[in-house]
Amino acid sequence: MSSTRNKPTLAVVGATGAVGTVMLDLLSTREDVWGEIRLIASPRSAGRRLRVRGEEVEVVALGEECFEGVDVAVFDVPDELSAQWAPVAAAKGAVAVDNSGAFRLDDDVPLVVPEVNAHAARVRPRGIIANPNCTTLSMIVAMGALHAEFGLSELIVSSYQAVSGAGQAGIDTLRDQISKVAGSTLGTQPGDVRRAVGDFGPFPAPMALNVVPWAGSLKDDGWSSEELKVRNESRKILGLPNLRVTATCVRVPVITTHSLTVHARFEREVTVAHAQEILRDAPGVVLYDNPAAGEFPTPADVVGTDPTWVGRVRRSMDDPTALELFVCGDNLRKGAALNTAQIAELVAADLG
Ligand SMILES: NC(=O)c1ccc[n+]([C@@H]2O[C@H](COP(=O)([O-])OP(=O)(O)OC[C@H]3O[C@@H](n4cnc5c(N)ncnc54)[C@H](OP(=O)(O)O)[C@@H]3O)[C@@H](O)[C@H]2O)c1
Repeated sequence: MSSTRNKPTLAVVGATGAVGTVMLDLLSTREDVWGEIRLIASPRSAGRRLRVRGEEVEVVALGEECFEGVDVAVFDVPDELSAQWAPVAAAKGAVAVDNSGAFRLDDDVPLVVPEVNAHAARVRPRGIIANPNCTTLSMIVAMGALHAEFGLSELIVSSYQAVSGAGQAGIDTLRDQISKVAGSTLGTQPGDVRRAVGDFGPFPAPMALNVVPWAGSLKDDGWSSEELKVRNESRKILGLPNLRVTATCVRVPVITTHSLTVHARFEREVTVAHAQEILRDAPGVVLYDNPAAGEFPTPADVVGTDPTWVGRVRRSMDDPTALELFVCGDNLRKGAALNTAQIAELVAADLG
């Protein structure tokens, strides 16, 4: 291992969760820019030993003293904890990079996707940088590249979201439900799956053998919080406060990797060939688009990879300024931990 002297100290708050676990994997495999790495979680996890960079590190319980001497603190914890503790870390001199929804729309907190608006990370009046939600992140790198070329004017998206977007509890729930329906003839009568699986966990309906048109909490006029996040966060990241955005968020029985169908309308006419060229060259994007050969991204193939995968690129039949696309991104990697790690590395590079 390289010397940790003079390298910045990183704190991972929420190291034991679904996102935190992927963060530790990324820290173990990406270029090692960190000195000490401190692992923090609830008192329930204090004393557990987790592996990072090939070494066992003991988890400590969240408290003010955790942030002494920390340069960058990433927060992979629920909103209310980030709201309380990211300012504490910032007051202790750390730059807080927050994965929760607590600060994303705060005017004094940049919302950063390094491939799209890395410059925004430098202006952080509260000492906090926010990471977008996983659904927006799963498509925004590809959309940013197309916007730079054609000028985006509208997005209409439907999501097909994995259960790990609801954290470890979401993963546990789907696995449990799959074991209850496996090998059965369930899924043929109204309510038979509902009765068989029993516990819905964090979801409003069974996830096994089902598709659920709901993610997040209920907001005004029937919208879900997840749908509003896609709208508000896409606007902020792209710097397009008036962008027309409509989202319908749907949960599907996939463990990890969100998919989206996207109808993207632009200021100028588009061609499939030109759009494919842009996507092929865009950092962080893989174009995988050959339906004649059965080639398009699916969550089962994309999970565990870093890029945004794009396929099924078509020009709308009734609108020469619009494209239809199918996009997949690992919600725990680019959708959460990877983007956070990239932001933390940007900050570390500036500190050096
Ligand atoms: N899952 C995704 O796809 C995704 C994507 C983007 C952003 N996010 C956001 O990232 C954050 C973490 O999500 P997740 O899916 O990883 O959740 P999770 O699996 O439920 O993990 C939550 C983490 O928070 C810790 N925690 C809970 N209560 C605590 C307390 N009182 N003090 C200190 N630590 C505490 C947990 O520690 P213990 O193990 O000790 O309880 C655990 O490490 C959330 O804000 C979520 O909205 C998630």
